Formats: sequence, C-alpha cells, structure tokens
Amino acid sequence: MIRTIDFQDEALVLIDQRKLPAEETYVRCANHHEVAEAIRNMVVRGAPAIGVTAAFGMALAAREFNGSRSSEFLRHLESAGERLGATRPTAVNLFWAIGRCIEYAKARTAEGQSPARVAEGLLQLAREMHEEDIAINRRIGDNGAELIQPDARVLTHCNAGALATAGYGTAAGVIRSAHRQDKIAEVLVDETRPFLQGSRLTAWELLRDDIPVTLISDNTAGYCMKRGKVDCVVVGADRIARNGDVANKIGTYSLAVLARENDVPFYVAAPTSTIDFRLESGDNIPIEERSPNEVTHFGGRRVAPEGIRVFNPAFDVTPARLVDA
Ligand code: MRU
Repeated sequence: MIRTIDFQDEALVLIDQRKLPAEETYVRCANHHEVAEAIRNMVVRGAPAIGVTAAFGMALAAREFNGSRSSEFLRHLESAGERLGATRPTAVNLFWAIGRCIEYAKARTAEGQSPARVAEGLLQLAREMHEEDIAINRRIGDNGAELIQPDARVLTHCNAGALATAGYGTAAGVIRSAHRQDKIAEVLVDETRPFLQGSRLTAWELLRDDIPVTLISDNTAGYCMKRGKVDCVVVGADRIARNGDVANKIGTYSLAVLARENDVPFYVAAPTSTIDFRLESGDNIPIEERSPNEVTHFGGRRVAPEGIRVFNPAFDVTPARLVDA
C-alpha cells in the first residue's frame, strides 16, 4: 500500500508527489513550519491528504511549545493553525482538520490538562484522523461501486486516489472497489494540465494496482464520450457547498458539461469533511490561482513566449445540477 502520509521517529514523512512518477522519494517534516511548506509547495496535495497532513502539523506545533501556560499554548496553536491554513485556500478539509485540532485542544485545556498532555493527545488525534480517512475512503469506494455497471469504462480527472488521501482514495476508491468486483473494463485518466496529477499520479497508482488504465490528453475526453467510450465520470472534490455545487480540479466543470451533453452519468466521490455547510452555493468558494510558470513551462522548459499574460486557476466549480450522484 502507498504510504502517502506517515508519522515516524517524531516527524511527518510524506511521499514527494512533485517527483512522481520518476522518483519515489520522501520528505521529512520535523516541525509545523515544514509541514506548511510541504502543503504550499505540493509535496502533498489532494483535499483529504492535506487535511490529515495539517492535523499532524498541529500535533507537531503542540510539541514545539515548551511553556506551561494554557492560554499561551492555545495562542500558539491558533497561530500555527493560521500558518497551516494560509497555504492553500480551496480544499475545505484543511480548515476542517485545523478546526478539529483546535477544538480538541480547547476542550482538554478546559478540563485542566497540561500543554504536554494535550500535545500527546493531539498526536493521537492526528493518527486517528489518518486511520479514519482510510476507513471512510473504503466505504466511499464500496458505496460508489454500486453505481458502476459491469464492464464499465470510467473516466476520472486529476488525482483523487491514495495519494490525495490517507489511502485508497475517493474517486479512485470507487474505481478500486469496482475493480475488486471485476466491473472495470477500463479507466480513462486525463492528464490534468497544467500540474499533471492525472498522468503523473493517477496513472502511476492505478498501474501499480494492475487496474486497466489508458491515459488521454484533457482535450480527448469529449471525443471519447461522443464515441460512446465512457460509461461514467467519477471525480473527487475539494469543497462542496450546501446546495451541492462542487469545487474540484480545473477542468472538472468542462467534463461535467460534456458528460451531460453525451448522457454520461457524472459522479462526485467525497467525504463529509469536504462539505462546507457555511457556504450556500459554489459562488463563494475561494479559488486558488497558481504560478504562471505552470502554464508557460513544461518539464522545466518554456513553451510560451516571454511576457505572455497567464490566468491559472487551480479549481473550478461544477453546479449541482450537473452532478448525477
Ligand atoms: O491541486 P490539488 O492536486 O490538490 O487538487 C486535487 C483535486 O482537485 C482532487 O480532485 C481533490 O482534492 C479530491 S482528492 C480525494
């Protein structure tokens, strides 16, 4: 099994997703500053994975505190939470996980526990959130697999797999469960420009599990649907508003429109930690904009003219009416 996130020898160990599939290397984060950097620079990515990573970041922050005053300890945790939360704005799991850790610390502190004891409890909580995420993904996978028909050709976008979670995956979890039930004829993975989570990560992890996978360029999805080569689309989510609008990797909305046009069911697989009940609709979901270099460069080489203006949103919002389940 892929160890996306692991806590070993007093540090958080993350598989370096920037290097895959060429290299399988790991980054060690010994304090919460390093954890925040790893989220910001995409060593770890994917909504549930950054949530669990942030929980370990909060546990490390708690261990970094060496005073005894509870009020100072809570202030220190609040500021660590702000630092971790300032890394990526769209996936709500990040804020959900930080909030859960702060609530835990407040409750234990109010019961009179010392900062050192709360810090131990926070590490335990992070470990539980890690295990819980894997269990949730397995359930999402098994529930979602019921929607997959025999001999299915499933299209997925970005990486909503073991690498985007603590393990197993959400959209890829549905594919894994359906594959176990022998229902998958083929998975079409689109490359997911510009960061290539599809070609670098999803293709890598599905191949490792011997799931039949075909890589297509993003532009090819509509052609495949029109030719009847796609039975359903399954994607993950970074934030779901109260009305069911879904923020996910840029290009998801285009796929949902294409799916509706071609009568292909469009499914979203996500845990409840991805639902933001405070937001009435997807209009208010903050959308991260990333570096122009991701668009102007390919494999480290410039492929667009110097001085070109670039717009590079990392996510888009699919209206609930385009989501079949
Ligand atoms: O920018 P990323 O790679 O963090 O974006 C990830 C996605 O959009 C995933 O589809 C989403 O987080 C769901 S992961 C189970």
